[in-house]
Amino acid sequence: MLNVNNLVKKAFNGEILKNLSFIAKRGEITAIIGPSGSGKTTLLRCLAQLTPISSGNVQFSGQDLKELSHGEIGLVFQNFHLFPHLTILDNLILAPVSQGIPREEVVQKAHHLLKQFSLNGKEKRFPGEISGGQKQRIAIARALMLDPPLLLFDEPTSALDPEMVKEVGEIISSLQDSKRVIILVTHEVRLAQQIANRVLFLDHGVLLDNVESKEFFSTDSTKLSKRAQKFLSNIS
Ligand SMILES: Nc1ncnc2c1ncn2[C@@H]1O[C@H](COP(=O)(O)OP(=O)(O)OP(=O)(O)O)[C@@H](O)[C@H]1O
Ligand SMILES: [Mg+2]
Repeated sequence: MLNVNNLVKKAFNGEILKNLSFIAKRGEITAIIGPSGSGKTTLLRCLAQLTPISSGNVQFSGQDLKELSHGEIGLVFQNFHLFPHLTILDNLILAPVSQGIPREEVVQKAHHLLKQFSLNGKEKRFPGEISGGQKQRIAIARALMLDPPLLLFDEPTSALDPEMVKEVGEIISSLQDSKRVIILVTHEVRLAQQIANRVLFLDHGVLLDNVESKEFFSTDSTKLSKRAQKFLSNIS
């Protein structure tokens, strides 16, 4: 499991993340919900080690996060972040090949993932030549190339139409595995309701709620923080 203890992230003008502690279990999808600017992306960037934490610690299966190799953490960025000048296949194989894994093995894995996501035949296309939903699936496939046990999604459906939201939700749900921790940052509350096991609600860098998904979305929301109640009332 992922164990976050007293995580603080400071910026020059104050704390972005204020003493966060939570556990995310293997086999579960943990959703992080909160208003814009609450610190969701910053938290994922800390977990993916793209930015250092200011204090506290994060452990994954008892090991300090810093000891994990890059291949053990998969991050799917908001807005895909595919390389526009590389073909779909090259986007998928770039990281694993540069890590020294034999090209043939990597290409085979890429074909397998493309097939799994109904994208076979798109290998030679460029990101500019495929749809938003397809790009998002490619971005997910790319994150899966090294079979990371820790998988982080930042707003994976923000650029998609409602049908695609459902489809990408089903893909994320299908990635649930007893060996894997999945963290899903989303403002798509219905997506969290459909696929998450737990919901963490963040506001101004403070973790206000940490409850089972069914409790977060229960008709009786009186046990939730006032801020979460307000947030939910605005979207339903
Ligand atoms: N590098 C940085 N330096 C200083 N402040 C930052 C930095 N990155 C983010 N922030 C600030 O930290 C806060 C949290 O930003 P973050 O991007 O994590 O929010 P978010 O919850 O992901 O928002 P959104 O839902 O809009 O994506 C914001 O107030 C933002 O302005
Ligand atoms: Mg964000």
